Amino acid sequence: MESFVIVVTGATGTVGSKVVAGLRERGESVRALVRDTADVPAEWDEGVEPVAADFADPASLDAALAGADVIYLLVAVHSEMAAHERNVIDAAVRTGRRPRIVMHGAAGLEYRPEGVRFVGAHVAGYDHLLASGLPWTVVAPNGFYQNFLGQAESVKAGRLAVPGGEGAVSYVDARDVADAAVQALTTEGHDGRIYTLTGPAALTHAEIAAELGTVAGRAVEYLAVEPEAALTEMLKAGWDAWRAEGMVELYGLYAAGHAATVSADVEKLTGRPARSFADFATEHSAVFE
Ligand SMILES: NC(=O)c1ccc[n+]([C@@H]2O[C@H](COP(=O)([O-])OP(=O)(O)OC[C@H]3O[C@@H](n4cnc5c(N)ncnc54)[C@H](OP(=O)(O)O)[C@@H]3O)[C@@H](O)[C@H]2O)c1
Repeated sequence: MESFVIVVTGATGTVGSKVVAGLRERGESVRALVRDTADVPAEWDEGVEPVAADFADPASLDAALAGADVIYLLVAVHSEMAAHERNVIDAAVRTGRRPRIVMHGAAGLEYRPEGVRFVGAHVAGYDHLLASGLPWTVVAPNGFYQNFLGQAESVKAGRLAVPGGEGAVSYVDARDVADAAVQALTTEGHDGRIYTLTGPAALTHAEIAAELGTVAGRAVEYLAVEPEAALTEMLKAGWDAWRAEGMVELYGLYAAGHAATVSADVEKLTGRPARSFADFATEHSAVFE
């Protein structure tokens, strides 16, 4: 009997690595798309088949997707990310097998905010997916709790400095995003659905700073950085301009309160409530202490 082929793109990243692990826990074999097969995560066992491909190279995608039944489509943040999503979708069409695509987008995809390039890229990918005629599902997460791990040094110095204004954000744990994706990849009944993945509550950045302070054992103050100052800092730190400008746009969306909606879709998909930020912070307290 021919085996069922699940392909995971972005397989070494924050979410993709957790999707691979979750699929293995369910006993599924996984074809993991990587750029370099010589450098794969040590925890991958014989049930994970690494295949080399690049989102920018359609021929490599044809080889990687051959025989696919279902594909987790997650592209990295990149100035060409919309083209990367299109390339994977087009290669999926060329397999001739009508694989089901579970596309990893971003919250706001349905709302289509103007001038937020990361979300705009996913909207373009989503429109391309719809036009492809392939069966599809979208998981659309809000910002990840894990992003705050990158703020650990500043938190240790008693400050959370981001251009988030006063808006609340229903951030979500990347582990819940992966668990929801695994469910969408391995069970039926998700075709044509967009699942918005959020945490259980919308928190302002002042509330997040307070939570981080609780686990760090010291006061952590929220500093609402002006967008221009945040951009200057990111450019100074070596971010490429496209990405840095995109971050400022995204925080603008947060500041305006447009990322505060709480969705029940994590629980709908996984059968259990989404993890809280307080629990995430407690689990990662060593990083912030
Ligand atoms: N962070 C957030 O808060 C957030 C919230 C909502 C949505 N999102 C969306 O989530 C996605 C990012 O997810 P993530 O944080 O899990 O990503 P990540 O940790 O940055 O990982 C990106 C993955 O893509 C792979 N990759 C990069 N460029 C590639 C290329 N040219 N060809 C093939 N593979 C390539 C990387 O592989 P290598 O090992 O080869 O580098 C890695 O496996 C983006 O689409 C973003 O818009 C993020």
